Amino acid sequence: MISVRGKLVRASGFHAPVCGEVECLNDVLIAVGADGVIAEVIRPDDETHAARLAAARADGTLLELPAGTFLLPGFVDLHIHAPQYPQLGNALDVPLEVWLQKYTFPIEARYADTAFARHAYSLLVGDLVACGTTTAVYYGTIHDEANRQLADICIEAGQRALIGKVAMDDPESCPDYYRDESVEAAVAGTACLIEHIRSHPDNGENRVLPVVTPRFIPSCTDDLLTELGALAQAHDCHVQTHCSESDWEHGYVLARHGVSDTESLDRFGLLRKGSVLGHANFISAADMERIKVREAAVAHCPLSNAYFAGAVFPLKAALEKGLHVGLGTDISGGPAGTMFESARAAIMASRMLESGTDPDLAPEERSTRSDTRIDFRTAFHLATAGGGAALGLPVGRFEPGCHFDAVLIDPAAPLGGLRLWPELHAGDEILQKIVYTASRPNITNVWIGGTAPSAPAT
Ligand code: GUN
Ligand code: FE
Repeated sequence: MISVRGKLVRASGFHAPVCGEVECLNDVLIAVGADGVIAEVIRPDDETHAARLAAARADGTLLELPAGTFLLPGFVDLHIHAPQYPQLGNALDVPLEVWLQKYTFPIEARYADTAFARHAYSLLVGDLVACGTTTAVYYGTIHDEANRQLADICIEAGQRALIGKVAMDDPESCPDYYRDESVEAAVAGTACLIEHIRSHPDNGENRVLPVVTPRFIPSCTDDLLTELGALAQAHDCHVQTHCSESDWEHGYVLARHGVSDTESLDRFGLLRKGSVLGHANFISAADMERIKVREAAVAHCPLSNAYFAGAVFPLKAALEKGLHVGLGTDISGGPAGTMFESARAAIMASRMLESGTDPDLAPEERSTRSDTRIDFRTAFHLATAGGGAALGLPVGRFEPGCHFDAVLIDPAAPLGGLRLWPELHAGDEILQKIVYTASRPNITNVWIGGTAPSAPAT
């Protein structure tokens, strides 16, 4: 569909600027500026609604979305390993530390081949945009050329993205065939990608941003972690890494540095405003406090956690403490690339944490936790506005000053999973059905910054 820049969009749909609350938007008018930023949201009870509608109709700037469709903010996926896309849905049979060596480092090493990289990254970006991921936070590989290609593909396609060169230099834990040669090489590669992205002639709107990306503490020497902390500060850059993901990882950092993963990252200057910590399953109350004070965020990856964490992230506790939290697919640690699946898994995991899982135990003994469950409203918020807030980007909500990053849900799409019964369901019950049952064919349009993304050539 056409660009909505400079248009008045007449739509119905939903958004969730406040965690746990959904606003049903019925027949709203969204005025989008020439820059793709929302200038105004005019609700039907606004006295100017009728006049604005008539004026836009008269001057040809009205775009009326079809009756029966629902506009949602585009999804923000806070944690994606771009090079692992070919492995999605495979290799989920071993623990994290084995999985990395046996499957994941070999697939990532293939991105030394730039033709392979171009093809795989184009498929990935095209698929994620089609699934409604309008903002994607990507780990690349150690390869400078492939990382630049990923940035170029996102820029060409129009996807909002943060892209990081994976830094991993420790010969104790990284294989010879897939490791940064030295601290200097890892830092230079990171700095080059920052420069490439920030000076890219087609990235004038800064849709694509760099992110400093130490893979995780077990992959990096202390010297590299120190340099990357300094680099993030010098370039005022986002940071992403893994934190306390599994018992093994959590224990490894405690044994090596004598403090928690969160505290160690902080000591290296890597816990900054907008730092995205993948997983963070084993963080303590003190770690949560530290993450909050630093204005960093957690990328909750519930599907992946089912395979690698050995525990459920205490999401509700983190939200109640006031941490920034969003959702991640963790492609390919999680076997689904769509944010609908992440939202569903977040709800399910939160409920299993509350109920416990062992049927041999009496219900009152089955879990040591109470009040951990979230519902579809919170999951939807996390997948949209929560992710935007985690990154400090004005996305994920339909409010003045936010980018018009949106998806259109058509319940009538014949191949989609969504079936509505208008006589039975109304209001946010419809959103509940969308969150639980919509699939890729139901997403009939995607806009990023008010423009339609283009499918990358594969
Ligand atoms: N920890 C270090 N690398 C990875 C990775 O690629 N995926 C996940 N889930 N955890 C990691
Ligand atoms: Fe990950």
